[in-house]
Amino acid sequence: MLKIFKDSDPLLRKRAEPVPLPISASDRNLALAMLAHLKESQDPEFAEKHKLRAGVGLAAPQVGESKQIIVVHLPRGGNDRLTYVLANPVILSSSIRRAYLRSGEGCLSVDEPHEGHVYRHYKIKVKAYDILNDEEIEINTFGYPAIVLQHEIDHLHGVLFYDRINDENKVRYPDALSL
Ligand code: CO
Repeated sequence: MLKIFKDSDPLLRKRAEPVPLPISASDRNLALAMLAHLKESQDPEFAEKHKLRAGVGLAAPQVGESKQIIVVHLPRGGNDRLTYVLANPVILSSSIRRAYLRSGEGCLSVDEPHEGHVYRHYKIKVKAYDILNDEEIEINTFGYPAIVLQHEIDHLHGVLFYDRINDENKVRYPDALSL
C-alpha cells in the first residue's frame, strides 16, 4: 500500500524524468509496488479495511516519484486482467476518432468530482519498456484500455483528466464514441 499524492501537490504538475535502462532494481521495485497497490485497491475487503479507492491505473508521480513509470491493471471479464507495467511510454500514433467514458474519468489523486467528458483517442499505438518482461514493446489498443493508458501517460506530462474537460471539445468531437 502506497501513499497517494493528491492533485494539490506540485509534483503532479511536473514532467516526469525518463527511467534509465536497463532498469535499476529500485525502479523495478517501485513499479511492482505500484502494481501491488492497484491489486490491493481492487480487493474489496482490503480496500474497505484500509480505506483505499479502487484504481485501474497509476503513474509514478502519484506515489511521489517524478519518473516515467505507469501501471495499468484492468478487469477483462471473469478473473482475467489486462496488466501493463511500463517505463518511458510514448504514444507513436493515434486515431482521429475520439472516445470518452460515459460516466466520466476518475483519478486516485483527485478527490473532488469533475463532471464532463474527457475526449481521448479511440485507438493508440504506444512504445514502451515492458518492466515485467524486460523488453521494448509496442502496444496497439483501443477503447477502454486505450483511454486508461492515455490518462496515465498524461500524468507523466503533468496533465490531469479535468484539464481536458471543456465545452469547446464537445463541439469539436461530435462523432466521438461513448464507452
Ligand atoms: Co489519474
